[in-house]
Amino acid sequence: MPRLSKRDSQSRTNPRFAIAIMAAGKGTRLKSKHPKVLHEVGGKPLLAHVIAAALSVVPAKDVYAIIGHEADRVRTALAGSGINFVLQKEQRGTGHALIVAREALQPYDHVLVLSGDAPLITPETIESLRDFHLSKKAAMTLLAAELENPTGYGRVIRTKSHSDEVQAIVEEKAASATQRKIREINSGFYVFAAKPFFQHIDELSTDNPHSEYYLTDMAGILGKAKEKVVAYKTDDPNEVLGSNTRSELADLDAQIRTAKRRQLMAAGVTIFSPETCIIDTDVEIGADTVLEPFVQILGNTRIGADCRIRSYTVINNSALGDGVLVRPGCILDEARVADGAVLGPYSHLRPGSEIGEGAHVGNFVETKKLKLGKGSKANHLTYLGDTEIGEGVNVGAGTITCNYDGVHKHKTVIEDGAFIGSNSTLIAPVRVGKGAYVAAASSITDDVPADALALGRSRQIVKEGWAKQKRQQKKQ
Ligand code: UD1
Ligand code: CA
Repeated sequence: MPRLSKRDSQSRTNPRFAIAIMAAGKGTRLKSKHPKVLHEVGGKPLLAHVIAAALSVVPAKDVYAIIGHEADRVRTALAGSGINFVLQKEQRGTGHALIVAREALQPYDHVLVLSGDAPLITPETIESLRDFHLSKKAAMTLLAAELENPTGYGRVIRTKSHSDEVQAIVEEKAASATQRKIREINSGFYVFAAKPFFQHIDELSTDNPHSEYYLTDMAGILGKAKEKVVAYKTDDPNEVLGSNTRSELADLDAQIRTAKRRQLMAAGVTIFSPETCIIDTDVEIGADTVLEPFVQILGNTRIGADCRIRSYTVINNSALGDGVLVRPGCILDEARVADGAVLGPYSHLRPGSEIGEGAHVGNFVETKKLKLGKGSKANHLTYLGDTEIGEGVNVGAGTITCNYDGVHKHKTVIEDGAFIGSNSTLIAPVRVGKGAYVAAASSITDDVPADALALGRSRQIVKEGWAKQKRQQKKQ
């Protein structure tokens, strides 16, 4: 027996896998100025879903996204994933995408190829495809699925029925009437053994209705070269669905969100009228939290246990502790809310709002870059921006922090236990000391020392009998 080289023996026991994600296409059928793979389902780009599945199978250093159309935007949007990007400047077909990535992929033993526009693929299916490929010692393994309506997909032509082996993949446009009746489709996910793949990839041609290099032609090419080409059929055809049109995007979005709600409910979250609630893929919610109808929980939001989120509230990229009550109609954006706080109805927490334990933010209160201390309350008709408020402070109805002079933003500080009377304006920069009182309807322009009372308004004038006199004048 010939001796195996060190690399060959290593590859047998521990083959090295790369994952290539084809994501360079323009997505003509979406009729969009944005790159296809940045269109969102479940609250994040198509490509981000595929990358997440890839990263459960191999480390980021072995994942290569092949990008082209609006490549810079795609790269920027997904830079956080830590994967590699390969530029396919001109998009001349799925086969061409792999030709362009040859240098990066050739050093591996096998290449798993995923489609950047099919976001429902799971790590389990990728792993099953990989294991099937290895067990069959195949040169090419494609993921096949049986669809009710196979229109638009490439069809799998098996060498004989019930055989694993595939003779060719025929694209819809090139298929004969009989071939179009085949309901077994090519999902656009493959595993290739790198050596035969790159040995034969130059045999691809553009001799087809789209004048493109079809990756699918590799099935016929490798078959003719006596390499083994097999298909692995998934039992869940949903997983391979692509998103070529806006309608398909909406269908995928609905599927992802339904699955997300089911997963949360299984983990102990109550969701009433679940079909009315929009919850993004990466949201986390603790047990015994209740979501009422028509809420939206978006982005990287984390909500603790035992909270109640009442109807018509929208929470984006925010963190809520345990036992928080959000009354109807609140909007939270990049806010942090500690345990037991109470918000709303109709509170608007803008970026940088930090609401302390047990604090209250009430009706028609807008906050921005606000630190509200433990147990403090701002319950009605108030704007608090660039403001730091200590513990146990009461902010009266209609209080306004005047934080902007038209050029710069200035800070307001209200120390522990202070009391701000209703309809006060705090003209920043200004500080109200510990335990101080601000009389109602004051304009506060200067710092108020601890424990003092500040009155910032003109004295009341009373003119006895004035109204009566006026009425009498009118009668004359
Ligand atoms: C492809 C398959 C088809 C399969 C279907 C499954 C081919 C020729 N056909 O068709 O058999 O049933 O997927 O969804 O492969 N891309 C690039 N560079 C390019 C062209 C495309 O990166 O030059 C990317 C696209 O961005 C997309 C993926 O490859 O993410 C698939 O391309 P697409 O044009 O959507 O192929 P389909 O027509 O769906
Ligand atoms: Ca597609």
